[in-house]
Amino acid sequence: MRNVHQLALLALSSYAVAAPLVSAPWKVGKRQVESQMNDIDILRYALTLEHLEDKFYREGLANFTQGDFAQAGFDSTFYQNVQAISAHETAHVQFLTAALKAAGYAPTVECTYAFGISTVEQFVATASILEGVGQAAYLGAAPQVSSKTILGAAGSILTIEARHDAYLRAALSQSPFPQANDDALTPDEVHTMAHGFIVSCPAGNPSFGVKAFPGLAVTTTGKITSGMTIALSTAGFALAPADSKAHLYAAFITALGPDFAPLTPSGDGENFQVTVPIGVNGQSYLLLTNCNDTVSDSSVVAGPTFLEITNNPLNTTLSGKKA
Ligand SMILES: *[C@@H]1O[C@H](CO)[C@@H](O)[C@H](O)[C@H]1NC(C)=O
Ligand SMILES: *[C@@H]1O[C@H](CO)[C@@H](O)[C@H](O)[C@H]1NC(C)=O
Ligand SMILES: *[C@@H]1O[C@H](CO)[C@@H](O)[C@H](O)[C@H]1NC(C)=O
Repeated sequence: MRNVHQLALLALSSYAVAAPLVSAPWKVGKRQVESQMNDIDILRYALTLEHLEDKFYREGLANFTQGDFAQAGFDSTFYQNVQAISAHETAHVQFLTAALKAAGYAPTVECTYAFGISTVEQFVATASILEGVGQAAYLGAAPQVSSKTILGAAGSILTIEARHDAYLRAALSQSPFPQANDDALTPDEVHTMAHGFIVSCPAGNPSFGVKAFPGLAVTTTGKITSGMTIALSTAGFALAPADSKAHLYAAFITALGPDFAPLTPSGDGENFQVTVPIGVNGQSYLLLTNCNDTVSDSSVVAGPTFLEITNNPLNTTLSGKKA
């Protein structure tokens, strides 16, 4: 079991020691961030994600009426709260744009996106995934921010994204807070998942030094729980012979360091199976690595991809005080 005390101990040891907190075949390793971004890069990175979220909600609210939400089982209060979330994302875009301009730097502008949404259910599920990834992105970037003023401002966005996420998760009958500590993702990891939604960006958009790893997808459909064996695909990216011959591992990102699990190839070098570790809950992130010790830019082979691990579903949506 993981708890805050273990997290504190691990933090004190600077994540230097691999702590065997779970029994075999899973193994807890360490994270190593190789790329360093400056504060302007981080503001542009955050703004790029906010543009994606802002456009996503505006487009979804243009696609679907309150009546469409009602038909999908979401009441008028939920619809109004989605409108409020949309307004928050617009405010975040304006805030970060103003911050960059005030510092004398060009802000990134909105790109063209393809969200592939055709139903209200897909819209709400994708909204929840985007809020979760956004939260992991802010958390992952936080230790790299030099300015305490920027860190405080970013924190004020992070907490509201976490509240959006909890609200949407509850509406989807998912636990609003499935674990005691949230996962952090590096900019390259976030970009690997976000760039799938981006069709193109204006040529003049400033770059901020992020790259995408080869894609990874969970191909198992339906409810996923700890202890279950799931199927993965590198989605058209056949691993190089050197990688497929080497030991490959699945790394589940957790707040205490990655949980490494053995990976079983199935078929043609693009497909794998892995057993989901005990102790990983809620929206989780999974990478393929070529070692079972450290997740770093040089050990990642593919991913991350997200997956929802449903060990403790809610029986009702938004259960609370009855009106
Ligand atoms: C809006 O509808 C278009 C056309 O059906 C679709 O391509 C797009 O993904 C939808 N976006 C959202 C956020 O619902
Ligand atoms: C970790 O990797 C080493 C070296 O490849 C291997 O001997 C060991 O069995 C692996 N451990 C696990 C838990 O996968
Ligand atoms: C959900 O309902 C079942 C059956 O009524 C019950 O056994 C279970 O404890 C409930 N779970 C939660 C999280 O309330």
